[in-house]
Amino acid sequence: MRTLITLGLLAVLISAAAALEQPGLLRADAAAALGAGELSGGRKHNDEQDKRPNIIFILTDDQDAVMGGDWHMPKLRRHLANEGINFTSYITNFALCCPSRSTILAGQCSHNSGVVGVGGDKQIMNPLGGFQRFNDMGMERKTVAYHLQQAGYRTGLVGKYLNGYTRQTAFHVPPGWDRWFGIGEIDYYNWTASDNGVNVEFGDRDEDYSTDVLTEKGVEFIHQYEQDRRPFFL
Ligand SMILES: *[C@@H]1O[C@H](CO)[C@@H](O)[C@H](O)[C@H]1NC(C)=O
Ligand SMILES: *[C@@H]1O[C@H](CO)[C@@H](O)[C@H](O)[C@H]1NC(C)=O
Repeated sequence: MRTLITLGLLAVLISAAAALEQPGLLRADAAAALGAGELSGGRKHNDEQDKRPNIIFILTDDQDAVMGGDWHMPKLRRHLANEGINFTSYITNFALCCPSRSTILAGQCSHNSGVVGVGGDKQIMNPLGGFQRFNDMGMERKTVAYHLQQAGYRTGLVGKYLNGYTRQTAFHVPPGWDRWFGIGEIDYYNWTASDNGVNVEFGDRDEDYSTDVLTEKGVEFIHQYEQDRRPFFL
């Protein structure tokens, strides 16, 4: 089974929905992308296997392509950006975190999704933004994951969901996700995540470093399902 990898920079939004319409979009070795050894080789083909591609969508934040924000991530640039497609004419409809994330998840512009603020954080609380707003607007049943799951995909999220999704909301696993590892309190150390609805806490030992933990969880998902008959979306 082919693995399709798409990369989104919040500065240069690429929506997963667009990726679905463009099968050739961006392909690279998943291993290289995740820095994790060989993943794509050796897949057995049999007639019963679902021919649809696995999809890995990687969202990296705060990287302005024009200002060269991705210079700090040479592997990302080498394995994904250099071998892929840049959507140089793409214009975001709302250059703000939560509205953009909502658009990526559900493919709707902000004036349709109704998520028009950042929300969540106490300092910048905006009732028209954040995870709660996304939920209130019924958007959780409009996400790419929800529809792919309905279409037979196994779906997983590892990493940040939306502002305002916290330790307190960790019990909530949005519909459409088979595997859920959503960040609650965000940081490199002393952070929390919802592990399929159960709040888990990380400290400040080396092995608690969030970037590494998230990589492990992502790679674990890929290894677990790479030989599965059902395609996956991570
Ligand atoms: C896309 O843009 C990045 C950053 O400007 C650049 O490094 C990369 O080579 C470009 N990729 C392609 C396929 O043009
Ligand atoms: C993590 O939390 C502990 C307990 O509150 C604190 O002592 C420690 O300094 C924190 N570590 C970091 C890296 O913030």
